[in-house]
Amino acid sequence: MPQIKFLSTDGTKHWDIEAPIGISVMDTAVTNGIDMEGTCEGNMACSTCHVIIDTNWDMKLTPPVEEEEDMLDLVYGLTRTSRLCCQIIMTEDLDGLTVRLPGERRNLLG
Ligand code: FES
Repeated sequence: MPQIKFLSTDGTKHWDIEAPIGISVMDTAVTNGIDMEGTCEGNMACSTCHVIIDTNWDMKLTPPVEEEEDMLDLVYGLTRTSRLCCQIIMTEDLDGLTVRLPGERRNLLG
């Protein structure tokens, strides 16, 4: 099964988290107790699933759709490789994907 590496805000490494194919990175994080809310459950309405993709992986991802880009414009600490990880669906090719959780997150649902 593919795996994801999560680097928490406090520097804690959650390496080799098993990530089922077809499941979003957000769902994998929440299921494994990673510090992520995913408040809107993947409906691109909250931005609490904001992550920063390792630069080695950024080009391997499907680019964000316009709606995701619009939401990203509203997050704290936006970077060139910021994504909403509810929109990243695991595939075999993403085995080893490395993401960092930002220092602050904004819940746009309230
Ligand atoms: S979980 Fe709300 S935008 Fe991703």
